[in-house]
Amino acid sequence: MKLCFVLCLALFWVELQHGNCQQAKRRKDSGENRIRPGGKRGKIRHPKVKEGGGRGHSLLTQVLEKGRFLRLGQSTVLAPGNNMELRCKGSNIGWSYPTYLDTFNDSRLSIVQSDKYSQLTLTSPSAADTGQYSCWVVVCDGRECEKDHEHVYSSNIYFADKDNLFVPSDIHFEIVYLRPDKPAVVPCRVTTPQAKVSLHREVPPEEIQANETLVNYDPAKGFVLQTPGLEYQGVFYCKAVTKGTPQISTKYQLLYVEVPSSPPFVSLQASSELVSGGDNVNVTCSVIGEPDIDVSFTWSYPGEGQRPVHIQTTWRLVNRGRGQTTRITQSVLSVEDMETIDFGKYICKAKNQRGETLVMTSIMSK
Ligand SMILES: *[C@@H]1O[C@H](CO)[C@@H](O)[C@H](O)[C@H]1NC(C)=O
Ligand SMILES: *[C@@H]1O[C@H](CO)[C@@H](O)[C@H](O)[C@H]1NC(C)=O
Ligand SMILES: *[C@@H]1O[C@H](CO)[C@@H](O)[C@H](O)[C@H]1NC(C)=O
Repeated sequence: MKLCFVLCLALFWVELQHGNCQQAKRRKDSGENRIRPGGKRGKIRHPKVKEGGGRGHSLLTQVLEKGRFLRLGQSTVLAPGNNMELRCKGSNIGWSYPTYLDTFNDSRLSIVQSDKYSQLTLTSPSAADTGQYSCWVVVCDGRECEKDHEHVYSSNIYFADKDNLFVPSDIHFEIVYLRPDKPAVVPCRVTTPQAKVSLHREVPPEEIQANETLVNYDPAKGFVLQTPGLEYQGVFYCKAVTKGTPQISTKYQLLYVEVPSSPPFVSLQASSELVSGGDNVNVTCSVIGEPDIDVSFTWSYPGEGQRPVHIQTTWRLVNRGRGQTTRITQSVLSVEDMETIDFGKYICKAKNQRGETLVMTSIMSK
């Protein structure tokens, strides 16, 4: 799995360089959280999240020796190596923790729910396990369960490691997309909240000055660029210092993307719209969109279910000048040896996270 991921990333990078690749499988940048036991993802009725539990005390505690407990605040610094046991009171508790632990299906992590509490155990934690750990109460109404957004308790847990000031990652070259309409994050998180971190451009070498309003550093997230623009394109890295020699993070390629976030822009074209029986036809459905937005295709065609067709989906990144990068995703439906049943309407439905677009073309007999 790790290998595939690294390989895919390499493919992705090669593709950026050469502008040609087929369906590299990439990990979604799924942010911090995953939901484990205690209830499926349900409808979300109260989108309020109370960090640390608001009014009441946090129900999230760390189990110390000899039956002592420590209530966790917004941030907690622990020593790596010692097993971590977190407890959350309640008979039905959900948890989230750094996605890294799920991505690699880490057996060091276990969660046990008992009558009165749920316990999350992480054995031999290391700097890489630094991140946000949360628990919440799951409320059920019959079979429908959901997260109680009034009772969510979180702590950013740092496994301080002076040899790894940055949270280690398997990705040695990460791509960060800059969009004009939302903040971008250069995710150089640290394992010690006290580390002094700066952001640097590689060429020309330059330190980007942190500025409360435009660029600020959050040890749990990284550098947040509030209104990312073209000026932030290029290769960047972070530098951290506590005492002694500074450490350098992985490198980040910042790419500016101007395509709006919307349902896919689709075009559909047949290799020929007037054909004779026995001909071969390709119908190509193309989507132009944002580099990191996946597109899926669904086809409807006259011979559906009766005639075999071949469908191939590929994508590539295209540099559109001024440093803008666009992704072209194509699905090609090929019909060989056209028969009467194959003439008619070909409909391509392209779907991304924002919505779907339908386009149609007709293939007629000469
Ligand atoms: C994760 O590990 C468990 C137990 O080792 C195994 O049953 C499960 O299939 C694994 N899941 C994935 C996605 O590898
Ligand atoms: C941040 O930078 C902007 C633009 O350069 C400037 O207008 C603003 O005053 C700066 N804010 C601070 C707190 O330095
Ligand atoms: C359809 O696409 C395939 C693969 O790209 C190509 O080999 C073939 O010549 C195309 N056929 C037509 C009729 O354009």
